[in-house]
Amino acid sequence: MFGHLRAFAGDPIFRLGEAFHADPRDLKVNLTVGLYYDEQGRLPLLDVARRAEKAWADKALPRAYLPIEGLSDYREQVQKLVFGPNSKALAENRVATIQTLGGTGALKVGGDFLHAAYPESEMWISDPAWDNHHAIFRGADITTHTYRYYDSATRGLDFEGMVQDLKQLPEYSIVLLHPCCHNPTGVDLEDAQWLDIIAVLRERNLIAFVDMAYQGFARGLDEDAFAIRAMDEAGLTFLVANSFSKNFSYYSERCGGLSVVCQSAEEASRVLGQLKAVARRIYSNPPSHGGQAIATVLADPDLFAEWKNEVEAMRTRIADMRQKVYDRLQKAAPEYDSSYFIKQRGMFCYTGLTMQQLETLRQKYGVYIIDSGRISMPGLNDDNVDYFVQSLVAVLSDPELQ
Ligand code: LMR
Repeated sequence: MFGHLRAFAGDPIFRLGEAFHADPRDLKVNLTVGLYYDEQGRLPLLDVARRAEKAWADKALPRAYLPIEGLSDYREQVQKLVFGPNSKALAENRVATIQTLGGTGALKVGGDFLHAAYPESEMWISDPAWDNHHAIFRGADITTHTYRYYDSATRGLDFEGMVQDLKQLPEYSIVLLHPCCHNPTGVDLEDAQWLDIIAVLRERNLIAFVDMAYQGFARGLDEDAFAIRAMDEAGLTFLVANSFSKNFSYYSERCGGLSVVCQSAEEASRVLGQLKAVARRIYSNPPSHGGQAIATVLADPDLFAEWKNEVEAMRTRIADMRQKVYDRLQKAAPEYDSSYFIKQRGMFCYTGLTMQQLETLRQKYGVYIIDSGRISMPGLNDDNVDYFVQSLVAVLSDPELQ
């Protein structure tokens, strides 16, 4: 019955992670999936998470269904973390928030919701984008396009191109934005540039869908939410997807949130109803384990302070690694402009390496980077950074690979 189906080519990100694990060599470096590894190359289980999980397990509560919209304590903490203490929208009860299956789940619920509310609207996504963005929204029957974002000549932002493209969009177009740690490029907007973008969104009546998967990994938990808080301050109607996969190291717990900022409390309550209708059709209601732990940690001032320190430690380690790669490349290949390692922010660095160079890194050196040339920086540590830089320099200086 299914003989006519084509084989799945594999996910462009996870496929390379699997190839890394299958590689029998001892000397190999995994810079594929966006996972935070500590200095010892281990995926951490945060101490605050372990304690909150234990306290909950000790209560041994029965496992009834959660409400479709998820745990109310969790949703409240998501709102505080995303919108901050001075949010006008929160003070006026204008935000509809639903617990989702990770950030990806939030994008899917938001996509289905938007397609029902604005069936004619199409979506614009940065060029380049996270490999899954187009697929998720096309899966929600939304036509997707790209806006200019990355300038390969400077390995930085094409801000003028971005503004020009957004200014051309029809009213009620949906614009996907990354408030920090742009995936895959690590190229972020400055705060002043966000204010210009917000003016365009408002002037053109565009619907912003903000995807915040890395809150805390660029500058800090509050600083990274600058764009969201400025949109709130400007009185926009917009959507935010957030995730605890990275900043709580809770990848498999699938803990995210979707928040829709509305113009009135009454509108927000109708929107929440529609979000629930969407979630019910897809997965009915979310699981409780991870959400309980997150709600416990974020609501307790001492645990929250500890978590904030943990996030800062992760952020600092990534920034140190960027600096170490830059310093070593400066010495080993002074003619190569490696400043993008320290200019780009957060988890990812966008190298611009060619397919041939990437293949050689994999086959000859066991250094795994996904096909877009995006490096997941936390795969580097003091034990492998020299090897990585040597391998990179060898590939960059090989005339056959130019
Ligand atoms: C990534 O971009 O590597 C992560 O967000 C993991 C994923 O789901 O693709």
